[in-house]
Parts: sequence; C-alpha cells; structure tokens
Amino acid sequence: MIVGTLSKITGPVVVAEGMTGVRMYDVVRVGKAGLMGEVIRLEGDLATVQVYEDTSGLKVGEPVESTGGALMLELGPGLLSSIYDGIQRPLPVIAGQTGDFIARGTIVSPLDRQRLWDFTPVAEVGQHVSAGDTLGTIPESPTIVHRVMVPPGVSGTITSIISEGQYTIDTPVAVLDDGREVGMTQKWPVREGRPYARKLDPTTPFLTGMRILDTFFPIALGGNAIIPGGFGTGKTVTQQSLAKWADVDIIVYVGCGERGNEMTEVLKEFPELEDPRTGSKLMDRTVLVANTSNMPVAAREASIYTGVTLAEFYRDMGYNVAMMADSTSRWGEALREVSGRLEEMPGEEGYPAYLATRLAAFYERSGRCEALGSEGRIGSVTMVGAVSPPGGDMSEPMTQNSLRVTGAFWALDTTLAHSRHFPAISWTKSYTLFLGQVRPWFEEQVAEDWVDIRDRAMFLLQKETELQEIVQLVGPDALPETEKIILEVARMLREDFLQQFAFDAVDAYCPPKKAYWLLKTILAFYDASTQAMSRGVSLRQIMQVPLREEISMLKTTEHEAAIARMQEMIPQIADQIAGIEVL
Ligand SMILES: Nc1ncnc2c1ncn2[C@@H]1O[C@H](COP(=O)(O)OP(=O)(O)O)[C@@H](O)[C@H]1O
Ligand SMILES: [Mg+2]
Repeated sequence: MIVGTLSKITGPVVVAEGMTGVRMYDVVRVGKAGLMGEVIRLEGDLATVQVYEDTSGLKVGEPVESTGGALMLELGPGLLSSIYDGIQRPLPVIAGQTGDFIARGTIVSPLDRQRLWDFTPVAEVGQHVSAGDTLGTIPESPTIVHRVMVPPGVSGTITSIISEGQYTIDTPVAVLDDGREVGMTQKWPVREGRPYARKLDPTTPFLTGMRILDTFFPIALGGNAIIPGGFGTGKTVTQQSLAKWADVDIIVYVGCGERGNEMTEVLKEFPELEDPRTGSKLMDRTVLVANTSNMPVAAREASIYTGVTLAEFYRDMGYNVAMMADSTSRWGEALREVSGRLEEMPGEEGYPAYLATRLAAFYERSGRCEALGSEGRIGSVTMVGAVSPPGGDMSEPMTQNSLRVTGAFWALDTTLAHSRHFPAISWTKSYTLFLGQVRPWFEEQVAEDWVDIRDRAMFLLQKETELQEIVQLVGPDALPETEKIILEVARMLREDFLQQFAFDAVDAYCPPKKAYWLLKTILAFYDASTQAMSRGVSLRQIMQVPLREEISMLKTTEHEAAIARMQEMIPQIADQIAGIEVL
C-alpha cells in the first residue's frame, strides 16, 4: 500500500509527495478524513489528485493513501431506481435537504447488500462460459430482467452454480474450473468503455415522441445528439420529456444543475413521475446521477463517466438505453476549473486544450452493439447532451467541440422560447446526420412517401424564412397570393405541427404515424389551395374553408382517432377547396 504525504492544497486539487508507484487515475484516500480522490497527474514522486469531496480543513502533512485501483462502479441488480452522486454514492431520498448529504470520507455501498433477489439459473454445471454469457436472471424491476453476466476477461467451465432461490448480491453465483467465483455484481472502471463483440450500424430510430425531432431531425438508437440552448430555452424540459417518452428500455439521467435548486427539483420530481409506457414508476427503469451545485466539482467531472458506464452495463444485457446529461457544460466547467488549478496551458476561453478529445472519447461510447457472449444480444446506448452556451452564443467552445463529435444538433432558440413557441427547437439551425440511416425504417413502418412529405414540409418552412425577409423590407402586400399562401401554410406547420406542449396529456407524445398524417393533411390543404388559386380563387376565400379550423385541433386529439379523422379529411379538404367559386 502506497502512503504519501499532502504537500499542497488548492481547492479540489491537492498534491501529495512520496507517491512513487501510483498510477494515473488511481483512487486515493486523502487526509485523516479519508476523502476520496483520483490521481490526475504524476511527476516523479508527486501525485496531483482531484478530490471528490469538500477539502476544507485538510492540512499539509496529512497522509494520502492509494487504493491501488481506478474509480470503479459496482454493477449489479439494484442499480435501477437508485439515485447516486457522481461517484456512485447513493443519495438518500432528498426532501428539500440542501446540506451535505453524505458525511465526508464515508464509504457507502452503492447497492443494497441486504436485499434478497429472485435468482433463476440459466447456465449449468459443465457448461463452458465466457465474458458476456448469462449465468442467471433476476427480475430487477417490474419490467426489466437483469442478466447476471460473466464479467469481461473471465471464462471457464462451471463446476457449481446456485439453484433457483432468493439471494443477496454478495452470494457467489457460480464457481469455474480454475476455482474462480463469479458473483452477482462486477466492478468496472468508469473511464474505460465496456467491451462488446462489435459495433453495428444504427438503423432503428430513437423515437422521442417529439414531432420536430422524429420528423425533421431524427437520430438512431445508438446515436448521439446535443441540445444547446441559452438559459430558459427548454433544455431540461426537453431532456425530461425524452426520459419519459423516448422509446427505450432504460434511462440514465445525469443531472448537473444549472440553478441552485434545479437538481433538488429533479430529485424530488423524478421519483414521482409515472412511466407512461408501463403505468408504474419511471424510476423502475431509471438510474439518476445527480450533482447539486453544492457538490465538489471533481465529482461532477466524474459523473458523466459514471452515467455512461451504467448505460453500457444495461446495453450489455441487450437493452436500449438512453443517457441524458443536463448539462454537459457544467462538466466542461469542472474540467476547466481542475485544469486551471493544475496551471495547464489554457486553450480557448480557458478550457483545457484536451476538451475536444475528452468530448470525442465520451460520445464515442454511444452506439448500437452486439454484446460479448454466445447469445448475440444487441443493445444500444443513445446519448443526448444538453449544452448551455453562455448568453446562447453557440460559437463558444463547448457547443462547437460537442457538435463536431455528435450526429445531431437540436438547437434551442431564444427568440422562439421568448415567443412561447415550444419546443423552442430551431428548424433552421438544427441538423441530423442520421436521416439516411433511419429513412428505410420510416418508409417501412410509417409510409412510403415519408421522406417526400418531410422534405416538402421542410421546404415550405425554409421558404417562409426567405419570404419573411422580403416582407420585412417591402411589406406583405408586395407578395403575390401564391406566396402569401406559403406564409399561411408555414404558420400552420409551426402552430399545428411543430409546437407541442410538453404538459398536455395527449400532445406530450406524438407517434410518428400521427406526425406523418398531420403533415400530409397540411400539405393536402396547400396543394388544393395552389390549384384553386391557379383558377383565380383568392387567399381570403381559401382561408374561410370550414375544415381549416379543425386542422389545429388534431394534435391534441387522441392519436388513433386523429389519424382516422385525417384520412377521412384529406379528400374532404380537397373537395371543399375545389368547390370554391371564383368571385
Ligand atoms: N416543450 C415545452 N412545452 C412547454 N413548455 C416548455 C417546453 N420547453 C420549455 N418550456 C418552458 O420553458 C421553461 C424553461 O425551460 P427549461 O427546460 O427549464 O430551460 P433550460 O433548462 O434550458 O434553462 C419551462 O419552465 C417551461 O415553462
Ligand atoms: Mg435546465
């Protein structure tokens, strides 16, 4: 055991001497209080340590002890519905509590060691198993079956395995021919991606239920996206809406609060949320990693790695997992603060020069993968990171470096948020690189002409932006009627399609089929209108068509009823407009 001595303390960063033999990223216990920290620089016998706990009161000369290993998570049944801090210490259920949740230096078990789990063996004595193979299953929550897997790097022939029954997580599950015991839990270093057999092309969309995302800027299961937006533009509402509605099995939600009490709100509200898919609690398939603003910055830096490691573990079981990080900018700031304390050469705006590589390595851990093991399970980790550019200025380093390494940019727009257009996702600034990959799915599952309808709607929205510039210059009267109708239809697209109220019982989630039919209905109105105009019908007459009003009510109409109604309405709209007499 290597024990050194504290020689320097600067906030969350401390230096210890006499540390020869420790390795980068080894976890150490700092001072008499045994505060947890991680080695982030080595020079001779000097180790620089970022401390995950409040360092006030530490004194030069106190001991620093290496634990001989990297920051590890304990992975096993009981993770779901847990609330952890950035280094997997369970936060007790917090009700308006703001003080230190955990006494400094405390070692707390991340998993409940007393709880009994119903274990059913899948493997048998005499069977050869290797990493990723399932030894048995445990119903971890009402909807999620936990697979007790052979950990990476382990293989052998089973000489004994426990029978069906109730056990605690510390029960050895199986013994292999080399005498090695395999347990119900495994440890994994957070900064290393968990291994898989191979990465697969992401082809299934990550359905969010948000029309603008699913229709215009879809990503795939295993893809990644960022949501940049200034203060109050809807990052948190969007991330939480994704957590509730996205079509995935498991949610890992990493919260780094923007405002002092924001995380306290999340901690209070999340456990209450109902799972709209199952009717039980959303927490039954969620792990929450929370950093309130009063927690030390180093734990915040670690939290996104903790989050993605948890996500990968369930991916390995064959689940589709979504990881939200709100907001990655708080992580970037933690990185910047630690880098500053290390007196490293600063890059752009004081962020370390390695910000870009760190972000790339982080988002690289998303993906759709075939798991290790003989079953060929397929799982995915989809990552959605919120970014909070100061003042909403998207040219800042966190936004720019994140967008280079992610596949979709869901830009929140301050002007839209101010005009109460929600979700305030800009259709002119956002983009996705996944369209080609998920297009076949939409064409097969939704409609053959899905992409045409999408493109035509997008074209009209872009055309609106151009026309509005002209209107700004010369006034609306200068536009011909055929362009005025574009403005009217684009307004319908914005109000009756893009706007979606996250708190409406029906509209909070929109299935892709309904989104498609909404566009199809609005475009049918547009097509009939341009035809009528070509024979001399005026815009005013068209706008008086009785069915036009009904279009605006469709999004809040129950999904199946709305889809049926739209199929019936489309020919009726065409008839009503075709029936208008030229005055
Ligand atoms: N999709 C939405 N539907 C309804 N209201 C929204 C939506 N998105 C944002 N809002 C409104 O905007 C406010 C700020 O959103 P929030 O997510 O807290 O912003 P941010 O996290 O970007 O600071 C919310 O309290 C809510 O009133
Ligand atoms: Mg927020």
